[in-house]
Amino acid sequence: MPLTNLSPFSTPDLQGRKILVFGKDGQLGISLQKLFLHLKIPVVFLGREQCDLSQEQSILQNLKQYQPQIILNAAAYTQVDMAEQEHDLSQKINSRVPRILAEYIAPIPRGVLVHVSTDYVFDGLKTSPYLEIDETRPMSQYGMSKRDGELGILETFHRLNNRAKEEAAKFFILRTSWVYGQGNNFIRTMLKLATQKEQLKVVNDQYGCPTCSDWLAGVALQLAVSDAESGLYHSVVDGQTTWHGLASFAIETARNAGMPVLVKPDQIFPIPTEDYPLPAPRPQNSMMDNSKLKTTLKKIGANSLDHPWQEQVQQYVMEYVQKLSQ
Ligand SMILES: NC(=O)c1ccc[n+]([C@@H]2O[C@H](COP(=O)([O-])OP(=O)(O)OC[C@H]3O[C@@H](n4cnc5c(N)ncnc54)[C@H](OP(=O)(O)O)[C@@H]3O)[C@@H](O)[C@H]2O)c1
Repeated sequence: MPLTNLSPFSTPDLQGRKILVFGKDGQLGISLQKLFLHLKIPVVFLGREQCDLSQEQSILQNLKQYQPQIILNAAAYTQVDMAEQEHDLSQKINSRVPRILAEYIAPIPRGVLVHVSTDYVFDGLKTSPYLEIDETRPMSQYGMSKRDGELGILETFHRLNNRAKEEAAKFFILRTSWVYGQGNNFIRTMLKLATQKEQLKVVNDQYGCPTCSDWLAGVALQLAVSDAESGLYHSVVDGQTTWHGLASFAIETARNAGMPVLVKPDQIFPIPTEDYPLPAPRPQNSMMDNSKLKTTLKKIGANSLDHPWQEQVQQYVMEYVQKLSQ
């Protein structure tokens, strides 16, 4: 995805602040790497080899070494089904780590913590898009660990952030959903299966919004360097679909772009969630209202506005197909 199309903003003024990114090798981490390279901003990226987030000492040691004023946390325990078994590890990475980062940043003048959370903090029973003020009620261990991470940041900032407004540290918790970028994700899985199988069955009763990690990286950085208010932001683009809707759209785009697709459009069958049981329950309604984010991005003069999910998925799939044929 050409970043210039999605994040056409100029190099921000960091006012001498140092940036540290955790999770350099994940989908969002790779998008942040591309973005910082594009903007020629100096930044330290840490992956698992440099910092094992399950080890508190390793985190503290890296914070001490680099002394960042801005932290972008792109790392997470993201294996939703495995988390049902690996409860302790998912809690450590998704709940304990954000709290440690918040404890470090909250007392720092003009410090910023950007953390990413998930639609899976909701139970999916609401019939309209979720707002930031809606009550969280996670259905899975993963959702719980991410919800606890949010609470850790909120509570820590409430406790430790006592400076005057212009000096106070800030946090941004970006709740996002159905992320795709460079890594394993639903779209890539569907495109692979589409070249191997004549029939596919895809869940059609869970609603959400696909999020391009390049777009999310742009939003994260623009908020981090802005004068926007601390808080939770539902960070998705416009529109919603089901997994079946997303699979069908991605596969048709790939077919039109010349990928040798085996499955015909009418052979992609919609199925209910109960026909595809997984260890961790998923919310049926993952839709999140992005009005607060859009208003804020407009206010800070940011650029990544009004991208319907189809536009970004189309671009992503076309580039994926292009790369395959090279
Ligand atoms: N993917 C989605 O559909 C989705 C949906 C909603 C919200 N989110 C949230 O969006 C954010 C970014 O997601 P993503 O898709 O970019 O995730 P991802 O591709 O799974 O990347 C997660 C990164 O965290 C790192 N990590 C995990 N455990 C670690 C540990 N113990 N020590 C050091 N690093 C560790 C992983 O390292 P390795 O590369 O070494 O494994 C990986 O690079 C996460 O906060 C996630 O919860 C994702």
